Amino acid sequence: MIAAIIAAAGSGERFGAAIPKALIQLGDRTLIEHAVSAISSVADQIIVTAPSGYEKEIQTLVGDGITVVTGGATRSESVRIGLSKVSADAEYVLIHDAARALASPDLAKRVVAALKSGDVAVIPGLAQTDTVKIVDASGIVTSTPDRAAMRRVQTPQGFTYKLISQAHAQSGEATDDAALVESLGKPVRVIEGEERAIKITTPADMATALQFLGKSTNFKSGVGVDAHHFEAGRQLWLAGLLWPDQDGVEGHSDGDVAAHAICDALFAASGLGDLGSNFGTNKPEYKGASGTTLLKETLALVEKSGYAISHVSVQVIGNRPKIGSRRAEAIASLSTALGGAEVALLATTTDGMGLTGEGKGIAAIASALIYSK
Ligand code: CTP
Ligand code: MG
Repeated sequence: MIAAIIAAAGSGERFGAAIPKALIQLGDRTLIEHAVSAISSVADQIIVTAPSGYEKEIQTLVGDGITVVTGGATRSESVRIGLSKVSADAEYVLIHDAARALASPDLAKRVVAALKSGDVAVIPGLAQTDTVKIVDASGIVTSTPDRAAMRRVQTPQGFTYKLISQAHAQSGEATDDAALVESLGKPVRVIEGEERAIKITTPADMATALQFLGKSTNFKSGVGVDAHHFEAGRQLWLAGLLWPDQDGVEGHSDGDVAAHAICDALFAASGLGDLGSNFGTNKPEYKGASGTTLLKETLALVEKSGYAISHVSVQVIGNRPKIGSRRAEAIASLSTALGGAEVALLATTTDGMGLTGEGKGIAAIASALIYSK
């Protein structure tokens, strides 16, 4: 029979989340659930080492058929605790990192096949593409080992139960289990690894992992347009700024066409209706609301629906005011209202044609790109 230990007791310090790394969600499942499915087709017994305090949560995620134990202070310690639970009749033991959540079941199968063909220790590895340097404590290179002979090794690593028990008997510390076997002078076979079996260490690795899942971040785009007629005697608000000595425009709110076009672009992208359905005349509380208030409210709705803003672009169409000299100020105002999102602001006239070209009002057209969080 084949036993498997999944090391999942780390805190994920380099990842920097509030929860242990094994509990982080990747696509539709947590890392620990992915790791279990990578080895469950070959293992008769599965033991998971959990961070102290998270045993129950992990047990619930992986189900009753799996043994969950509290891990140790180091990875090697955790593996030893797992080994102590391995059934006496196990022939082989696979040791896998929860952090290598996307290793495929095929990789585990190939490790087992190599064990069955007579190897006593089998580990997946990939060619080293970067040149590696050995440096001294002051950062001076002392040597350049031959890259061609190097392998970046992964898990699951497979061993005969007898050999891995012996290797861990001395309470040695190493960053992988094969190293302890090597120190016994036993042969460790490297088989072809998988790029998708990357060790998820930092948040940046999640983007790579999502690509392997075929779930690259879900982007949506939207377009919005707004136009208002000039109305003498009103203040002009545009792109989050007050433009003194300019006629304002008529409207239910402050008439900021740039802000309104952006709101509609965001509503279009997120499928949440439009400016009218969210803040229209049937919502008297928004009468006279500033453009920046509406941007803030729109952002809150977009975020509530599970999206974040990647980028917003808005073009003001009209003869006046001239945007150029206040562009940076306007971008800052719009961006602040949108929680710091990247904003582009452009302006154009229409060569004397159409309503805004005739000087009757101002229009704006915006586009927004949002992505699922
Ligand atoms: N691990 C473990 N017990 C420990 C430390 C680590 O079981 N005491 C596990 C981790 O949960 C992980 C694997 O060993 O699945 C590889 O470790 P690593 O990627 O370094 O994870 P963490 O130790 O959690 O991360 P960090 O080093 O950034 O804290
Ligand atoms: Mg670690």
